[in-house]
Amino acid sequence: MQDYQDILAEVLIDEVSLQKRVKELADQINHDYAGEQVLLICILRGALPFMVDLMRHLSVLNAIDCMAVSSYGAGARSSTGNVRMTLDLQTNIEGKHVILVEDIVDSGHTISRVIDMLRTRKPRSLKVCALLDKASRREVPVMIDYRGFSIENKFVFGYGLDLDEFYRNLPFVGVVDLEKYNKE
Ligand code: IMP
Ligand code: MG
Repeated sequence: MQDYQDILAEVLIDEVSLQKRVKELADQINHDYAGEQVLLICILRGALPFMVDLMRHLSVLNAIDCMAVSSYGAGARSSTGNVRMTLDLQTNIEGKHVILVEDIVDSGHTISRVIDMLRTRKPRSLKVCALLDKASRREVPVMIDYRGFSIENKFVFGYGLDLDEFYRNLPFVGVVDLEKYNKE
């Protein structure tokens, strides 16, 4: 496995900018749900660092849960419409204000399938908080209620986003130098 510096084309969003934006998103959530309780759902594993940082800034009463999904034909760098749940929630979401926390919305298949699955469980409300939005890649429409950053169509890693499961711990979002990465 290569050192991240060998495959980093550029830092797209540095740590200070990430943390500032995450705080702003939390402030919006605090405002929108004032006096209410929310259930944050982390879509594993990419949204982990984002959700941890986000929840630290929440003043609204909140509980958390996690779920995981995978696409058939995994290994591809984009999902297909075939998304299935691989880890279910522990919480009954019926009647609750739910916020889905996701690292990135790309084609939109993953989050829209998750929304469909969770809607049947009758939450009181269901919103989407995504750190990154690659809108140019969208194949199905997705309503993103809380958006961190809109980014161009570049493959990124760090701050939860992986390259073949590694580098999720980096504190910034970087663009992958795919030529160098594939040479490994
Ligand atoms: P979608 O279903 O195409 O919207 O893809 C969403 C999932 O694809 C995300 O949760 C990520 O796991 C993965 N993904 C999409 N773009 C990137 C990227 O640039 N870097 C790392 N993972 C990505
Ligand atoms: Mg993901």
